[in-house]
Amino acid sequence: MNFIFAFTDRLGAFRAAVSLGAVVVAALIFPLPAVAGDGAAPAEVPAHLGTADVANGEKQFKRRCRACHTNTDGGPNKTGPNLWNIVGREQGAREGYRYSDGLKTLGGHWGFAELDAFLTRPADYVPDTRMAFPGLRKPSDRADLIAYLRSLSDDPAPFSLN
Ligand code: HEC
Repeated sequence: MNFIFAFTDRLGAFRAAVSLGAVVVAALIFPLPAVAGDGAAPAEVPAHLGTADVANGEKQFKRRCRACHTNTDGGPNKTGPNLWNIVGREQGAREGYRYSDGLKTLGGHWGFAELDAFLTRPADYVPDTRMAFPGLRKPSDRADLIAYLRSLSDDPAPFSLN
């Protein structure tokens, strides 16, 4: 009897291992199209800014950005530059901050589409960037975060900017 129990036990453990394996494999395979889709989504994010959840954007900022960036008027540069008035601001131009050559020479401004592209995957937008952040892949979180960044101003940029 003991032997049979031991055998069914082992069979059970084997079955559990196999189904766990299947779940892991499925998890590895199925999110891939979603990630690829997210990558293709940036252009749509600015369109969602008007209905974005600014409170969630602030939460995202606190969780993912605050370690390196201040968000107040006149706040100091830290590992990254201060982000007050970032929407509409010239790229790589915050006084007293040493940017990567790539960011410094972009020469444009941070409109909604530029922020969206950069925050999706900073190293794709500025290959030599010094911003050690892998990117925020979820479009709704990015829209919420960018809507929050827009609020860091006495005179928030119109959503029609760009
Ligand atoms: C680990 C530190 C770190 C984290 C986390 C981080 N950043 Fe940065 N950020 C930097 C650095 C460093 C730079 C300057 C990059 C360069 O010079 O290439 C930068 C640059 C930027 C710029 C360009 C600013 C300008 O003046 O042109 C923006 C916008 C920005 N970060 C937004 C964010 C947001 C939003 C988050 C959160 C999702 C974030 N960063 C998370 C370090 C960080």
